[in-house]
Amino acid sequence: MAITQRWWLRGGGRSYIMILWQRCGKREWAIAVAGFAVVLLAFSFIISSDSSSSDHFSGAGTADFIPLTLLRNAVKRGAYCLDGSVPAYHFQKGFGSGSRRWVLHIEGGGWCNTAASCSFRKTTTLGSSKYMDYQVQFSGILSRDQSHNPDFYNWNKVKLRYCDGASLTGHPESEQKNDTKLFFRGQLIWEAMMDELLSIGLSNAQEALLSGCSAGGLATLIHCDDFREILPKDAKVKCLSDAGFFLNEKDIAGNATIQSFYHDVVHLQGAAGGLKKDCVTKMEPSKCFFPQNFVKSINTPVFLVNPTYDFWQIKNILVPGPADPLGHWHSCQLSIHNCSPEQIQVLQGFRDSFLKALSEFQQMKDVGMFINSCYIHCQTWISETWHGPNSPKINNKTIAESVGDWFFERKESKHIDCPYPCNPTCYHMDFTRRFH
Ligand SMILES: *[C@@H]1O[C@H](CO)[C@@H](O)[C@H](O)[C@H]1NC(C)=O
Ligand SMILES: *[C@@H]1O[C@H](CO)[C@@H](O)[C@H](O)[C@H]1NC(C)=O
Ligand SMILES: *[C@@H]1O[C@H](CO)[C@@H](O)[C@H](O)[C@H]1NC(C)=O
Repeated sequence: MAITQRWWLRGGGRSYIMILWQRCGKREWAIAVAGFAVVLLAFSFIISSDSSSSDHFSGAGTADFIPLTLLRNAVKRGAYCLDGSVPAYHFQKGFGSGSRRWVLHIEGGGWCNTAASCSFRKTTTLGSSKYMDYQVQFSGILSRDQSHNPDFYNWNKVKLRYCDGASLTGHPESEQKNDTKLFFRGQLIWEAMMDELLSIGLSNAQEALLSGCSAGGLATLIHCDDFREILPKDAKVKCLSDAGFFLNEKDIAGNATIQSFYHDVVHLQGAAGGLKKDCVTKMEPSKCFFPQNFVKSINTPVFLVNPTYDFWQIKNILVPGPADPLGHWHSCQLSIHNCSPEQIQVLQGFRDSFLKALSEFQQMKDVGMFINSCYIHCQTWISETWHGPNSPKINNKTIAESVGDWFFERKESKHIDCPYPCNPTCYHMDFTRRFH
């Protein structure tokens, strides 16, 4: 594992990311794949950007590599990854005052919307546990180091691997009866995972935080009340969605690209049955894949971490390849510093829509937010963006401090950043840095 990471840090992943980047605009499945690859892998670049040595990597001195556990009750429950393999998670036991406290983090990785794109996933970690790393590093919100993770460092920690392609919502009734052999078991994976975690101590939790990034951040919102329900009534239970607030916005060519993509995901995988009931009765089910249409009806306290210039959303919702056939946006998408004043205007328009979609939710009690103006995607599981002297801040608070203020009710924690480029603490993703 360490070898893989060093390989990425040395820039070995460079060409892979470039390939994905180029494919992105051209192919539908790329929305899904790019979500995973660009997000997960590109962080190696951020982290290595200030230093040529891997010592700089998150918590290198105190690195925790946590082994993969295959879900024991999966076969009994019929809970399978897309390819029929057994889903998996990584678990690290809490200690001291954290021994009855739990933080869960659901991995991200986009979605698949066609039989072809779901089949492609069967050959990757996003559709099969056969390809998952035997161990992963826990950092950011999963770090065991108090200086990196002041409030949750000693909690029980679980990273749930994502292998169903529909934010843990798919239903087997939608599986095709021919030889396509795709399993749509997201909802069953969720249920089987929770059963297993309850059996290893979660059922005794005093405090619990369900979190996730990207497609996992969306799953966090979708399953937040379910999570509340399975825990003891007197436990404090809350949900943290990182980069999971995908906006239902038309692209720059005026097409409803993301809406039709979500429509295909939900219909292919029979996801409607896994979505919030009170939303599905009110509108076309696939619209209930958009948090803006259901967050207000979540009864459990929710915290949103999301940049208003979320690079995944800019690349796949606002300016998908077909909407920019001449590639005018290419260099702006690689780095926000390259955007022309006109393009920045368009990005500010996206930010306005984003803030508008949040405005009522923002007023609600128990809600927390950290909505910053950085060109980035997930920020909670990377030590550099979660908590440190150089981490992004709003009102002089890091994301970790803001989430802690909200979880422990130390003070109201609703932070909305000023527009780009006002915040000097941002980490802006720069995809150009290592490509030449
Ligand atoms: C399987 O059936 C579905 C419709 O139920 C169809 O869309 C798909 O193309 C079929 N796949 C194969 C490999 O025949
Ligand atoms: C917009 O959508 C229409 C209808 O689906 C499609 O024919 C057209 O190619 C799309 N245009 C762009 C630029 O994506
Ligand atoms: C910002 O926070 C740090 C650490 O909490 C503190 O030491 C510093 O004084 C604060 N700065 C301002 C301007 O409030």
